[in-house]
Amino acid sequence: MLICDVLAGQPTERRPIWLMRQAGRYLPEYLELRKAARDFLNFCYTPDMATEATLQPIRRFGFDAAIIFSDILVIPDALGVDVKFIPGTGPVLETIKSPADIQALTPSAVEEHLQPVYTALRQTRAALPDETALIGFAGAPWTLAAYMVEGSGSRDYATARKFAVNEPDAFMALISMLETVIADYLIRQIDAGAQIVQIFDSWAGALPAYGIEQWSLAPIQRIAGAVKAARPDAYVIAFPRGADSYLEAYASTKSIDAVSCGQSLPAEQMARVANAGAVPQGNLDPTALVKGGDILDRELRRILAATEDHRHIFNLGHGITPDTPIAHVERLIETVRG
Ligand code: CP3
Repeated sequence: MLICDVLAGQPTERRPIWLMRQAGRYLPEYLELRKAARDFLNFCYTPDMATEATLQPIRRFGFDAAIIFSDILVIPDALGVDVKFIPGTGPVLETIKSPADIQALTPSAVEEHLQPVYTALRQTRAALPDETALIGFAGAPWTLAAYMVEGSGSRDYATARKFAVNEPDAFMALISMLETVIADYLIRQIDAGAQIVQIFDSWAGALPAYGIEQWSLAPIQRIAGAVKAARPDAYVIAFPRGADSYLEAYASTKSIDAVSCGQSLPAEQMARVANAGAVPQGNLDPTALVKGGDILDRELRRILAATEDHRHIFNLGHGITPDTPIAHVERLIETVRG
């Protein structure tokens, strides 16, 4: 598998490409499939549907990796938090307000609750071409805790940051519990067929500088370390989105093989990740992909030129958006593959 060869440090003929959220609402076949599900979580927990959604972008575009169709919020759901996806609004969660609310979470229920994800991984692996890698994933402790305390997406996660500062012991207990659950979940995803796992710290950029080490970096390092100790042949990608000042700290971690970079990072600075010992992944602006034309060509050229001299996994800086024209994705793939 091309992407695994790059992660292993072997020379390859070209760079691999896949896109975050490559299964989703910009695909007409996804919208059609989505109609059959009661709600989004039900879609995620129906293995035949999750398998089909995972395979759709592979059939259409032949990406070098498939990412299992699921969501980072299945872990809070499995912990007993009420999670709803409201069309047009996004996720809404029952909120953690006190140390007692953290005590009431059910880590022992997670394994059983997430069985449908493992089934979907096994089915997807069996259906994928041999050359296509399968990526499993989870949210990082801080990003999951931020949703659980805030109760929804937020611009700056002020409620979650206040809770972390006002209730430091309880907050750290939540982070530690999530660490254990996430590491176990990623190991089980590898056993079900994933060659690679990606840890999404989507809101790392909302943390104050003093919070990066304790709430994002160290927990991700411990998860990656546990995964690699248990399954040394699997690869780990970390995505500390927006934590651009700290990329070297993630990239120089032995158990982290690749670091995904958001579009706020100048493409030339992906070399910082490569120089620190990990493979940079990224970092095309999803909006440039929507617009197409000159801005897409310019940004593509810039990323390809900036990453010529080191390993690189082509991706967006964040998830593909529903308004992305399919023709622009085709143009992107053609250009990257030369
Ligand atoms: O193709 C893939 O990348 C795999 C599937 C995937 C989804 N979510 C499907 C999804 C992955 C990897 C995720 C991760 C995820 N989910 C993240 C981390 C990545 C990031 O974007 O930073 C986060 C923060 C979430 C939480 C989440 N899920 C939000 C904020 C939303 C609402 C956004 C919106 O535009 O509606 C979701 C819903 C969601 N997850 C959709 C999909 C395809 C859209 C829901 C639908 O189809 O009805």
